[in-house]
Amino acid sequence: MRILITGGLGFIGRALAKRLLDENAHQLVLLDTLSPQVHGENPSYPDLLSHPNVRFLKGSVCDRSLVRDALAGVSAVYHLAAETGTGQSMDEIQRYYDTNVMGTAILLEEVVKEPSLRPKALVLSSSRSVYGEGAYALSEDDGFEVTSRIYPSGRSATDMQQGSFEFLRDGRPLTPIPTKETDKIDPNSIYAASKYAQEQMCQIACSTVGISFTALRLQNVYGPGQSLRNPYTGILSIFTNTLKQGGSIDIFEDGEESRDFVYIDDVTRAFRLALDVPASPDNIINVGTGNRHTVSEIVGLLERKIGVSGRSYISGRFRPGDIRHCFADVSRMNRILGFKAETPLIDGLSATVDWALNQPAELDRSDAANRELEALVRRN
Ligand SMILES: NC(=O)c1ccc[n+]([C@@H]2O[C@H](COP(=O)([O-])OP(=O)(O)OC[C@H]3O[C@@H](n4cnc5c(N)ncnc54)[C@H](O)[C@@H]3O)[C@@H](O)[C@H]2O)c1
Repeated sequence: MRILITGGLGFIGRALAKRLLDENAHQLVLLDTLSPQVHGENPSYPDLLSHPNVRFLKGSVCDRSLVRDALAGVSAVYHLAAETGTGQSMDEIQRYYDTNVMGTAILLEEVVKEPSLRPKALVLSSSRSVYGEGAYALSEDDGFEVTSRIYPSGRSATDMQQGSFEFLRDGRPLTPIPTKETDKIDPNSIYAASKYAQEQMCQIACSTVGISFTALRLQNVYGPGQSLRNPYTGILSIFTNTLKQGGSIDIFEDGEESRDFVYIDDVTRAFRLALDVPASPDNIINVGTGNRHTVSEIVGLLERKIGVSGRSYISGRFRPGDIRHCFADVSRMNRILGFKAETPLIDGLSATVDWALNQPAELDRSDAANRELEALVRRN
């Protein structure tokens, strides 16, 4: 099959391309701008770019003629090209909308207008960010009982400045519960809003012209190959890079904020399976492990793996738009894709650190990126 991957040289795109090439059954078209923020000035991916079954098109999803060229003869499209920094999106609104929304609009317009460019299937790389804070419930003293699903909205800067990070309802703490695809949509960043716009545009356009559409709402993906230079995404790679450079990790809030970390191999398996599922309005699917781990826990595991200690501190700093907790309800993923994320965190983290330690040193830009975001808070 001939398959187009937009953003095909990004972290997930490259891993997905390798998985597909291993099947020895596909011709791939990889379209990517090679954004310097992600790839640096002189990226080189010889294993993919010299592969006989790969055609690489360097350029943007906003370039209509390039998109037409990329679509010629393809049966399936994985749409991954995006600007991906949640915090950065709050300050660079046009850049995020140009790539994520306008790029998707151009891709869809071409497949809608021109039947000869129409794939059979389109899989979108969406994000759990569309849920905002996600689902919570009141926890009872005598155990945990979900009485109703609660969707708290963002936390106030005043509360967080006083060290109060958790959500309360009438003075009682709320407990995070796994977020389902049917839970409230509540994007709280420009990035999240752009990902939800992508989903809706793809769903509507694909159903109009009979393209089978699936959106995968990814949790926090990590693994070898994630950019060590991009300070705006991927805390595991950012932290590993900081420790590798001899720096200290500034753990935000109280370190108890938590995420669902899903390993890259599991994610690319979900993408592969998504290509073969029959069209259905239920094809908006969470991809995660269904478990959550706190940031302090992750830092502890990283320090142990790298063999350092005392190289992190809890600063109490916080960023606008950061959510407190999140983890996925994966029952739809299990049912529709017949798939469970299987890589244990400790194994995935170990493989990630081993890979990162063997990469050329990258300037640690995380502190500068955090200062940019703090300046944004001060302006408001
Ligand atoms: N990594 C995660 O944890 C995660 C979580 C949720 C959703 N996602 C989504 O998955 C997709 C891939 O993310 P990733 O982690 O591989 O990020 P990445 O930054 O490594 O990859 C994105 C790729 O898109 C390319 N790109 C940017 N603008 C482009 C444009 N205008 N035209 C063509 N290419 C362009 C970049 O050069 C990059 O190679 C994105 O759509 C992202 O929103 C990722």
